[in-house]
Amino acid sequence: MAVSGLSGLKKYLSLMGFKEEINRRRTFGIVSHPDAGKTTLTEKLLLFGGAIRVAGAVKSNKIKKGATSDFMEIERQRGISVATSVMGFEYRDYKVNILDTPGHQDFQEDTFRTLTAVDSVIIVIDAAKGVEPQTEKLMNVCRMRKTPVMVFINKLDRPSRDTFSLLDEIEEQLKIKTRPLSWPINSGADFKGVYNIYKKSLNLFDADVQEIQPAIKFADVNDPQLETHIGNDADELREELELVEGVYPEFDREAYLAGDLAPVFFGSALYNFGVQELLDAFVEIAPSPKPSVTEEREIKPAEEGFTGFVFKIHANIDPNHRSRIAFVKICSGRFERNAVYKHIRTGKNMRISSPTAFMAAQKEVIDEAFPGDIIGVPDNGNLIIGDTITSGEEIHFKGLPSFSPEMFRYIENADPMKSKQLNKGIDQLMEEGVAQLFTSQFNGRKIIGTVGQLQFEVIQYRLEHEYNAKCRFETLPMHKACWIECDDPKLLTEFKKRKHQKMATDKRGRDVFMADSGFILQMAQDEFKDIKFHFTSEF
Ligand code: G4P
Repeated sequence: MAVSGLSGLKKYLSLMGFKEEINRRRTFGIVSHPDAGKTTLTEKLLLFGGAIRVAGAVKSNKIKKGATSDFMEIERQRGISVATSVMGFEYRDYKVNILDTPGHQDFQEDTFRTLTAVDSVIIVIDAAKGVEPQTEKLMNVCRMRKTPVMVFINKLDRPSRDTFSLLDEIEEQLKIKTRPLSWPINSGADFKGVYNIYKKSLNLFDADVQEIQPAIKFADVNDPQLETHIGNDADELREELELVEGVYPEFDREAYLAGDLAPVFFGSALYNFGVQELLDAFVEIAPSPKPSVTEEREIKPAEEGFTGFVFKIHANIDPNHRSRIAFVKICSGRFERNAVYKHIRTGKNMRISSPTAFMAAQKEVIDEAFPGDIIGVPDNGNLIIGDTITSGEEIHFKGLPSFSPEMFRYIENADPMKSKQLNKGIDQLMEEGVAQLFTSQFNGRKIIGTVGQLQFEVIQYRLEHEYNAKCRFETLPMHKACWIECDDPKLLTEFKKRKHQKMATDKRGRDVFMADSGFILQMAQDEFKDIKFHFTSEF
């Protein structure tokens, strides 16, 4: 780049600074099957980042098993998850942004949406349980989006499964190649520690010592010094590592970045063991903000024009003020407070005067932010999930899918005097992404579709407490809702006529087929081979 004059130099330096800001950002999500240790790991990462001072500051945001009707718990969860939805902190020269995802599977849509805003993911796996159902579902979303994935195998302080068989299971069930970058020495009561393969160092585990002990460096694994620290286990470690080198190819960062290979670390989040090694490797190898796909073109983070999209909305944070916060992921350009941006869906200009950043688990108003960052935008109902904001260019971000719900109920007004409040409440909760709303083409009744029972309870509770409206649900025994599509309009009309009683419309006016059972869905698919049945709303 040719630089001429003082203003040219200033511009050049500013551009370099901008690129540097992008390169040092690491925006990621931590996911796990409930109880594998996501909350504990998040907390320990925050300790390293200085975002919290003491352990226990991040309360588990999960709803304990068996407490599905505990509304106070739901409220508590919402309150906490607002504060901890995004946690930014500085670590070494990096700006780390952790996006929290709800642990409870009934809120998995929220998790899926959050995963659209991350550049990489850390999956936590319980060393005794291995891959669990929720881990698989979450991995499917990562695979769909080619998100780079790192694995942390947790709870080595407890009796664990054989390490090789755990890795095999991950490869088989999560359908991703693995490459261990550290290796555990025994587990449970015999757990000695973790050998860091790529740094050739050993971290010794001692359940009684709280402080983090410095790693012990070796020339390589054959160093006789190893015996001094782990005695007879040294030989077995050498054998296992020889096998590792034989079985697993060298760690290939490109394959990791392409989402084809998961580097694996071992530790115990509870004892803050192996966590710093994970974080150090993470900031070094995880991707900085990646290009984003829009309907029009690919957007590169270093482009000058600002672009961002809304991936999450929190409504009624303070019940006394109808306040909402829209979470905006910045995809390109420098975000500036009070600059005029365009809200693409409405075509209106907007000025964001008090954007907040989520640093050190606190919200604070910021003047600028960079690609990879998440900003909180106070909103009074103008923004919805999936909205694009830009410095002017007409683009639309892709990839905020709704998933085919699996539980359905008709929703009815239980207080005729409050129908306006009810409709407003339903609209806003659906915009927030709590559940999906369909309208039957047959009888015009409103149908709520969810992935779990808990969402119905949340809707009922929130309608009453936030909108002063009462609703009643009526069971609708349905199997699945799927979006249908066909190139032949005549065939589509024929299908809709035949299935008239089972057709509904989604919030964007698209046709949805509500199948009573798996069998009926299969029959429809067999009979109408030229109709495509989609199980996510993005196709
Ligand atoms: P989650 O967010 O993935 O659902 O898991 P969370 O961190 O809440 O951890 C689930 C349980 O596992 C917690 O115990 C937690 O203390 C424990 N745990 C997490 N990491 C480790 C580890 O490395 N080793 C051992 N031994 N336990 C670990 P809990 O009894 O359910 O909750 P709490 O009362 O201790 O908070």
